[in-house]
Amino acid sequence: MAEDASPLNPPLAGLEMDRKADEPCTIVIFGASGDLTVRKLIPALFHLYEEGQMPESFRVVGFARREKTDESWRAEMREGLERYSRTKTVDDAQWEQFAANLAYHQGDLTDAEAYVDLAARLKEYGDERLANNLVFYLAISPSLFGEVVDQLHAATLLRRCEEGDSFWQRIVVEKPFGHDLQSARLLNNHLLRHARERQIFRIDHYLGKETVQNIMMFRFSNAIFEQLWSREAIEHVQITVSETVGVGSRGGYFEESGTMRDMMQNHLLQILSLVAMEPPPSLAAEDVRNEKVKALKSIRAMTPENVAQQVVRGQYFAGTVNGKNCSGYRQEEKVNPESNVETYVALKLFIDNWRWSGVPFYLRTGKNLPLRASEVRVQFRPTPNVLFAAQGDLDLMPNALTLRLQPDEGISLRFNGKVPGNSISSRPVRMHFGYDSEFGAYTPEAYERLLLEAMAGDATLFIRRDEVETAWQIVDDIRAAWGGQPLTNHEFYAAGTWGPVAAEDLLAQDGYTWHDPQPAL
Ligand code: BG6
Repeated sequence: MAEDASPLNPPLAGLEMDRKADEPCTIVIFGASGDLTVRKLIPALFHLYEEGQMPESFRVVGFARREKTDESWRAEMREGLERYSRTKTVDDAQWEQFAANLAYHQGDLTDAEAYVDLAARLKEYGDERLANNLVFYLAISPSLFGEVVDQLHAATLLRRCEEGDSFWQRIVVEKPFGHDLQSARLLNNHLLRHARERQIFRIDHYLGKETVQNIMMFRFSNAIFEQLWSREAIEHVQITVSETVGVGSRGGYFEESGTMRDMMQNHLLQILSLVAMEPPPSLAAEDVRNEKVKALKSIRAMTPENVAQQVVRGQYFAGTVNGKNCSGYRQEEKVNPESNVETYVALKLFIDNWRWSGVPFYLRTGKNLPLRASEVRVQFRPTPNVLFAAQGDLDLMPNALTLRLQPDEGISLRFNGKVPGNSISSRPVRMHFGYDSEFGAYTPEAYERLLLEAMAGDATLFIRRDEVETAWQIVDDIRAAWGGQPLTNHEFYAAGTWGPVAAEDLLAQDGYTWHDPQPAL
């Protein structure tokens, strides 16, 4: 209950529901010597520990093939923390206490003995909750997901949990979850042999971002916006996720994936589902995910003709991003010099339901663009042009709401204001909300929230089976229409530009332009 406003309880104090993972558990990280572990997972767990959000008793076991001792792995993790942690400084005493819970388990993922040894090791902790409440984090190649789950099951480390069981096991899987609908289905079937759906936590790290979570808070706790949130008032929606990085050392992976599968299938469609979903009956995981799936299922299926008109792909060639020379995609390491893989996609889609009928949603994402920014831009319908039009060429802009997801997190509303003076002239002006100025600089990393939720057993921020499969269906239809067709000249863009010209045309034919994100002020 909110208390009365007083100097100690300022009127804008928010509703707080602090989360903590209560039950003692062990997190086993498969892929413990990989990048994700040192850059994201261990820093996230350490910050949760510092914030007092880890369970009172916990262990983190890193499982990987390389020879290491507990000590050498801890030292590596400590070094990584200094390099990658969001706080940069590490409190020695806190680290020592935290690190006492870290252990390294050397083993081959395909070796049954390694799992038997792991089970024995967990028993040695002498607390059956640490030996049986288990989060298995698969930070490994997706081709090994099935193998690991089989092995865990064989070593009796993983069981299909029933309601009311004393202990639980959960599997956290990193993307990519399959490379098309068929492979995703096979993978789902495989995982579900040994675990129930509610034990599987499929990651989309965008859902761990504060600003992405805020989409629901913003929509469903503010009457003024929710009442406008439909075809009645909204003319179109743009979702942009732009990156200034190229594919770097990930050329090999990218050749197999491309932007459609790497970004659109997951992050952009996830953002879209949150923007478009109906209010769920509650915040329970199944209620929220039911609504997200319904939104995705309402996306109008793309025929090859639609794809030709509504989807633009692109690939960067050499250029300059922020004053830095970048080579073209075809010249990147481990990339075929004649590759037709896309590093950019823009598309227009429709959500055929009551709320959104006829409202175009434009989504775009690409590598080596001029600015790193993710935002949702909602453009409202214009006012009838009957009053001020008579005053000559007043440049009245439609209202627009921008949810800036990263960086420079915040929300802006654009409206027309009268320029002070004796004549009638107008100018678009803005109302701003910035996370930094409102809440200070503290923004937890996506992985902190996601790990916490996995330990707490709340799957709201994870992707359900039908969600991942529906998203693949959308992407598969588009990729099938592309077939093996090579890129044409107008599908290339210079690194450091906003993508191929065809992407501008996609909006121009509807009378709109892309709103390019702006650098922070
Ligand atoms: C990953 C993609 O899922 O998301 C990368 O595989 C991409 O290609 C990254 O760079 C972007 O994430 P963020 O959090 O930096 O916007």
